[in-house]
Amino acid sequence: MRIAGAVIVVTGAGSGIGAGLARRFVAEGAHAVVLADRDLAAAQAVTAQLGSRAAAAGLDVTDEAAVAGLVAGVLAEHGRIDLFCSNAGLATGTGLAADAGRTSDPAREVGTAADDAWQRAWEVHVMAHVYAARAVLPAMIAAGGGYLLNTASAAGLLSAPGDAPYTASKHAAVGLAEWLAYSYRDRGIRVSVLCPMGVDTPLLMDGLAAGSPAAAAVAASGPVIGVEQVADAVVEAVTNETFLVLPHPRVGKFWATKAADVEGWLVGMAKLAGQIGTADQIGTAGQTGTADQTGTADQTGTTAGAKQKER
Ligand SMILES: NC(=O)c1ccc[n+]([C@@H]2O[C@H](COP(=O)([O-])OP(=O)(O)OC[C@H]3O[C@@H](n4cnc5c(N)ncnc54)[C@H](O)[C@@H]3O)[C@@H](O)[C@H]2O)c1
Repeated sequence: MRIAGAVIVVTGAGSGIGAGLARRFVAEGAHAVVLADRDLAAAQAVTAQLGSRAAAAGLDVTDEAAVAGLVAGVLAEHGRIDLFCSNAGLATGTGLAADAGRTSDPAREVGTAADDAWQRAWEVHVMAHVYAARAVLPAMIAAGGGYLLNTASAAGLLSAPGDAPYTASKHAAVGLAEWLAYSYRDRGIRVSVLCPMGVDTPLLMDGLAAGSPAAAAVAASGPVIGVEQVADAVVEAVTNETFLVLPHPRVGKFWATKAADVEGWLVGMAKLAGQIGTADQIGTAGQTGTADQTGTADQTGTTAGAKQKER
């Protein structure tokens, strides 16, 4: 699809990748970009830099009525939504432990019990994508087509040492995106799923600063790239209508290696978890890091920390 002239919604656009995508869409000549975030002030601060084609909206993506209301409002104002980016996300930094799940940042608070962390990850990373698709697809199909960009993670293809809810919910996000892509393809709907490893955003960098082992696993697994590089990959994928968006090309290689030899991959991941200290200790205090865990040990199981040039 063409980004120039498009009407676009981006969730989680008050920070990080979402803000980077919104900035890039405006620069590419989008007709209108709506920056939606639970943190309205943050979305407004980004929007203030982007001129009259950008608008901010307060939105909790886990509130289906609110998502439907946002979509209805954008349709009423612009008549169409060409691209909906379900991007909002959070890290839990926990495994199975019962007392984990609290982060230091209230904006990313996921609850005080592990079940809360699991539920929150499911709602933000999966149900929010369901709510967005339910709300926006009827108008897109009536218009003859439209585009969904769902932010998952490399953790959705590989794993995230130190963050079990993140790993499981991001796998579900990838599965949902695949399902949407083939189920609505003949009605003109295109879908991309964004699966980066480490990206320089508060979600990861706050965890690194706090000494989170889970964040360390991400940093040890490959280069931490900027949101501009993620936006480059997204613009290329959406323009070419490519499903899988891998700003770190190595993720594709790791994914293929995993599929070819899952037993060997598990051995390599166990080594990485052991080296970095992200193995979960059931019945003890859990991880409290706030980072996104896209940790992907070199799947030969030899080097967890190699930093190679991506392109
Ligand atoms: N940073 C990384 O290393 C990395 C890697 C892979 C995938 N991701 C994914 O990228 C996406 C964006 O993350 P980021 O790194 O830019 O993080 P970020 O913390 O910089 O931004 C996330 C934004 O989402 C918003 N948000 C959280 N819950 C929300 C909710 N319920 N409703 C509305 N907004 C909500 C937050 O307010 C925040 O502005 C997430 O889905 C994340 O899982 C990040």
